Amino acid sequence: MRLIVTDSYEQSAYLSAQMILGVIKDKADALLGLATGTTPVAVYRYMVEAAQQKKADFGKVRTINLDEYIGLDGEDPNSYLHFMRKHLLDPCQIPLERVMIPNGMADVQEELQRMNLFADANPSDVQLLSVGVNGHIGFNEPSDVFYDRFHAVKLAQKTRESNSRLFPSIEEVPAEAITMGAGGIMRAKKIVVVVSGSDKAEILKKVVDGPITPQVPASVLQLHPDVTIVADEAAAA
Ligand code: F6R
Repeated sequence: MRLIVTDSYEQSAYLSAQMILGVIKDKADALLGLATGTTPVAVYRYMVEAAQQKKADFGKVRTINLDEYIGLDGEDPNSYLHFMRKHLLDPCQIPLERVMIPNGMADVQEELQRMNLFADANPSDVQLLSVGVNGHIGFNEPSDVFYDRFHAVKLAQKTRESNSRLFPSIEEVPAEAITMGAGGIMRAKKIVVVVSGSDKAEILKKVVDGPITPQVPASVLQLHPDVTIVADEAAAA
């Protein structure tokens, strides 16, 4: 595990974007494993900037997202597909034919099968992650076991509270989601984790320095051969 401490979130985002762009440079049809949430926003901004300045070519790039809420349509402004289109896919002109993201409106079992069929055959070349305040990655919530493949989950109360900032009220935060398992995340060839802000400091210490346990899902990353955590000073405190 490599830990890079930066002066600011902007610097972390810039550095992380450069790492992902480096993967695309080496492999034009790279499969990018993507995350949503507040933390990746500036990472995507730097990637879009590179595309617009013709410093990066997204013409063959493929993407797979970690997760999606069950019950939200891709047109819903709170769906992760909507988030991805807004922040990365549309500005980089990545068509949906090259995008894998769970469909929150489809039959859950069929959707898990579709995602797993693809993910089993296509490990990501690089996976971008952030960590939830409870240590979750994707929607792998604290649990007694690590999950391997895509599965459906009930969101932890802490996660729903944290994510309610983006919804009109907590009641409207979906209770369930489809997520890639910890096993799928670990099969990525390279992992870049951006962690920002003082509210993540306590969990970051457990992630890098604590026991490897499904109670702190991100702690499993300690076992991956190529993980870089990019944390600003507040998170690294
Ligand atoms: C969402 C995801 C989540 C977030 C985590 C941190 O696709 O993978 O695990 O990365 O909840 O979210 P932020 O960045 O909003 O603190």
